[in-house]
Amino acid sequence: MTQTVLTAANITHTYELGPHQVTVLHDINIEIRAGEVLLLAGPSGSGKTTLLQILGCLLKPTSGQVIVCGERASGRDSEALAALRLRYFGFVFQAYNLFPVLTATENVMVALDLLGVGKQQAMERARALLIKVGLGERLDSYPSQLSGGQRQRVAIARSMAAGPPILMADEPTAALDAESGQKAMQLFCALAKQNHAVVIVTHDPRIFHLADRIIHLEDGRITRCETAPRRWPHEKESAG
Ligand SMILES: Nc1ncnc2c1ncn2[C@@H]1O[C@H](COP(=O)(O)OP(=O)(O)O)[C@@H](O)[C@H]1O
Ligand SMILES: [Mg+2]
Repeated sequence: MTQTVLTAANITHTYELGPHQVTVLHDINIEIRAGEVLLLAGPSGSGKTTLLQILGCLLKPTSGQVIVCGERASGRDSEALAALRLRYFGFVFQAYNLFPVLTATENVMVALDLLGVGKQQAMERARALLIKVGLGERLDSYPSQLSGGQRQRVAIARSMAAGPPILMADEPTAALDAESGQKAMQLFCALAKQNHAVVIVTHDPRIFHLADRIIHLEDGRITRCETAPRRWPHEKESAG
C-alpha cells in the first residue's frame, strides 16, 4: 500500500506586483506518495517553482491547504514552518547553494549541525553520504574544485543528510551535461526505492522516462497527468 506523505488541496497563488495582482496557480490538487519520483513539468513561467515552494512549505499559498505527513502547514508562523521543513524536507536547488568556503564534507555537515548532531557523528555521516553519491575521492574538495555534476551530488548528499521523507529539487539537471544529469537522476531514483518521495520540477524531457508520474502544468493549471509503469525489475508484478 502506498502512503500519502503530502496533500495539497485547492491551492491558488497570487503575486502582488505593485498595483497588479497576478494569479499564477489555480486550484491545484496533488497527492504525493512515499516511494515515487514525481515530476512537475511545464514550460517556463507555468508556475512550477511557485508550486514546489508551496508544497515544500517555503511559500504560503494565497489559498488552499498543504498537509505534510498528517500535519497542516497553514496557519503556522514562519518558525513553525521552518521546523516542519527541517523535519520533513530535503531541498536541492538548481544553483546548488553550497557554501564556497566549506569543503564537500563540511557542506553536508551543515545540514546535520542544524539538527543538533554532534561534530564527530556528523562528519562520519557526511562522509558516508558523499561516498554513496560517488564522491569518496572528493571529500575535502571545495565547491570551486568540483564540476557542476559533482556539486550537484554534494547538494543531493546534503539534502539526504537528515533522512527526510520528501526530497524536492528544482530543475536539478538543467545545468548538467547528459551524463551528469543521468547520474543525478539515478540517485533520486535510488532514494525513491528507499521509500522517499522525490518531487522534481523540470522542463528537461531527457529525464521524463525515469519518472513514476508526471504532472504537466500550463499557465498555473494542471493540464495532464501521466503515470509510468514501474521500471524496477524487482517491483514488477510477477506473471505467475
Ligand atoms: N516573486 C514573484 N513575484 C511576482 N511574480 C512572480 C514571482 N515569482 C514568480 N512570478 C511569476 O509567476 C509565474 C510563474 O513563475 P514560476 O513559478 O517561477 O514558473 P516556472 O518555475 O514554471 O518557470 C511567472 O509569470 C513569474 O513571472
Ligand atoms: Mg522555475
